[in-house]
Amino acid sequence: MPTFRAPRGTRDLLPDERAGFDRLIRIASSLTQRYGYRPIETPLFEQTAVFERGIGEVTDVVEKELFRIAPRTEESESWALRPEPTAGIVRAYVQPGMQTLPQPVKLTTIGPMFRYDRPQAGRYRQFWQFDVEAIGDPGPAVDAEIVELGHRFYVEAGVEGVEVLVNSIGDGVCRPAYLASLVDYYRTHVDALPPTERERLERNALRLLDSKDPVMTGLNADAPRITDHLCEPCAAHFESAKAHLEALGVPFRVEPGLVRGLDYYTRTAFEFYVAGREGQQQALGGGGRYDGLVELLGGKPTPGIGFGLGLDRVALVLAEQGHPPAAVDGPLAVVAGADPDDTVERLRVATDLRAAGLRVRADLGRRKLGRQLEAAGKDGAHFAVILGDELADGHVQLRDLLAGTQRVVALADLARDLARAEQHHKHG
Ligand code: HAM
Repeated sequence: MPTFRAPRGTRDLLPDERAGFDRLIRIASSLTQRYGYRPIETPLFEQTAVFERGIGEVTDVVEKELFRIAPRTEESESWALRPEPTAGIVRAYVQPGMQTLPQPVKLTTIGPMFRYDRPQAGRYRQFWQFDVEAIGDPGPAVDAEIVELGHRFYVEAGVEGVEVLVNSIGDGVCRPAYLASLVDYYRTHVDALPPTERERLERNALRLLDSKDPVMTGLNADAPRITDHLCEPCAAHFESAKAHLEALGVPFRVEPGLVRGLDYYTRTAFEFYVAGREGQQQALGGGGRYDGLVELLGGKPTPGIGFGLGLDRVALVLAEQGHPPAAVDGPLAVVAGADPDDTVERLRVATDLRAAGLRVRADLGRRKLGRQLEAAGKDGAHFAVILGDELADGHVQLRDLLAGTQRVVALADLARDLARAEQHHKHG
């Protein structure tokens, strides 16, 4: 047993897995560029109040899952690791005056999030999200644009059978009356409620609807539905968002029980699932509109909408669906030498080739040439540059490990020859 292990609920992304993440990040970046989103980075930790106020104090994420950082002194501010990026991005939007930029401001970020959740497959304490936020557009067209963008990410990543579930969860006008009917409903079943849910009933009844407790599944199926209580503007917004989605050809299903787990949502809410997994609290991604969040964090009233897609879950599903791990390119060439002890020349030649922009490994082991060439083959190298007696008059042997051919090349021409071979290999 090793002495130290990665903390429970976290995992190392070893190079093969990390390469798979890089592929997903490349797809996400290319998409967001096409759709006009600009990258943003916010700190991995924020004042705890940003999350308490933004996400809501009576939510699983804040009540149970927030990684709070122990204050260093009594006067220290209270900080927490970000459980999601939206609250921090909106905090940044308000803080340095992104409110005066042309609206909407379209932002994207990719990085690790932290939730002190009970670890299981697809649920980690440190996980990655691909996030987009469009701040300053009241919709409903942008609602459909964002759902379509999320759906397209899965298609380009190669995930099969992704379902889009959408709902409207109303706004400050219609939700209070709905909540009152929800509270009435749960009160008539109060004896069946687990203690935490009973306690939440009076403080935030909406959270009972997304409870992970199996006891709640049956109760929630018969609960009053927000879609039956929408005010006229919310209903019209929802109808138009759906019409836009239909026009874009995004396959979706209205799921009246979908309320999301964070308090900032208004109106459009959506989640992405792999077909057949809807019941398992394992959304691949989700998002929605948050028209009150900017104001809640101290800005002018400004609408917003976005999504967060879990990259760990995408990687898991891709593996389950039989996608091979992303291929990592081997070196173009390995520099080997006939003199086992002369690591100086090997390193020098490799350094020059790298300076010329080529992917080159130097064999730095003090071992026989045969072993060096064997290792180059295992590495997936296309060429071996062999330093031998010819080096005295400025030449090396260039062996094509794939074709099994070998020729003498002037050291002065080596970088150009290798670059040409690489081009030919890529395009040939
Ligand atoms: P969320 O639904 O809490 O939304 O998280 C988004 C996605 O992150 C989930 O659908 C899931 O794929 C992934 N995820 C969440 N928790 C874990 C975990 N413990 N382990 C692995 N993956 C996880 C948000 O975070 C919102 N900020 C989305 C958003 C952006 N809404 C508007 N803008």
